[in-house]
Amino acid sequence: MKGLICAGGNATRLEELTRVTNKHLLPVGRWPMVYYPLQLLQRVGVHEVLIVTGKQHAGDFIDLLGDGRLTARGSDEVLFDLDLSYKVQVEAGGIAQVVGMARDFARGEKLVVCLGDNIFEKAQADAIANWDNDDALVFVKDVPDPENFGVVAYGDDGTVVDLVEKAGVVDMRYPSPPSNDAVVGLYCYPPDVFDIISTLKPSSRGELEITDVNREFVRQGRLSVTQVDGWWHDGGKHWGDLADVGRLIDQTGANQ
Ligand code: G1P
Repeated sequence: MKGLICAGGNATRLEELTRVTNKHLLPVGRWPMVYYPLQLLQRVGVHEVLIVTGKQHAGDFIDLLGDGRLTARGSDEVLFDLDLSYKVQVEAGGIAQVVGMARDFARGEKLVVCLGDNIFEKAQADAIANWDNDDALVFVKDVPDPENFGVVAYGDDGTVVDLVEKAGVVDMRYPSPPSNDAVVGLYCYPPDVFDIISTLKPSSRGELEITDVNREFVRQGRLSVTQVDGWWHDGGKHWGDLADVGRLIDQTGANQ
C-alpha cells in the first residue's frame, strides 16, 4: 500500500496568504498544514509516499520534508519516518489528474490518496485496515455547506446511487446538492483506478474530477462509503479557519 499527497493548486480562496507560498505550507497550530496528512498516512501504515505539487513551490517542499525522515527542531523526537518521492504538476488539472500521475509510483499496489489540506481528528486507521481491496473506499461527513463539496446522492433504500461535484457549479445535473454528506479528501483505491482515470473527460471547470472517478466505482458497484470518525476539516476553504483548526488540534489532537 502506497500513499499520495495532493499538494498543488493556487489556493485563491485563501487570498493574500497564498500569494507567494503554497497553501499546504501555511501554519495550522504548531505545524505546517502538510504534516497532518503525512502523519495520517504514517499512522495507517503507509511508508512510501508521493507528493505532487506545482513547480513554483516544489523546492520548498523538498527543503521542508527532505527524504521523509524528519526529527522535530532542536530534539530527537521523530516526526516522520517516511520514504518520500516528489512529482511536479506543471498545470493544475484537477485531483484526478494528480492521482493519474502516481501510476508508475504505485506500480500495481493499492493507493491511499490524501488531499494536503484535509485534516482529521482520527487517522481512520480501522476503516482503512478493514477496507475490501477490490473496492474503492471513500469517507463522508455531514456538512452545513454541501454546495462546496463533492456529495453523495442516496436512493430510497439508502444505497449510494450517484456522486455530485459542487452541485449547480461544477455538476449542472443537480441544481442543488442531493444530500449534506460531503465526500472528504481521503480516498483508497485499488490498482485499476488508473484505467478509470485514463477514460475521464474534463468537467465544466476544465478539470479531471475525483468525483467522476468515484462515480465510476459506484457504477461498477465497487464504492464503499464510510462515515468519518471524529472531526474533519478542509483547510483550503477560508483563511479564517486556519487559526480555529489549530486551536481544535490543541484540544483534541489530530490523527489519533
Ligand atoms: C475537493 C473535491 C471535493 C471534495 C473536497 C474535500 O474539492 O473536488 O469533491 O469534497 O475536495 O475537501 P476542493 O476543496 O478542491 O474544492
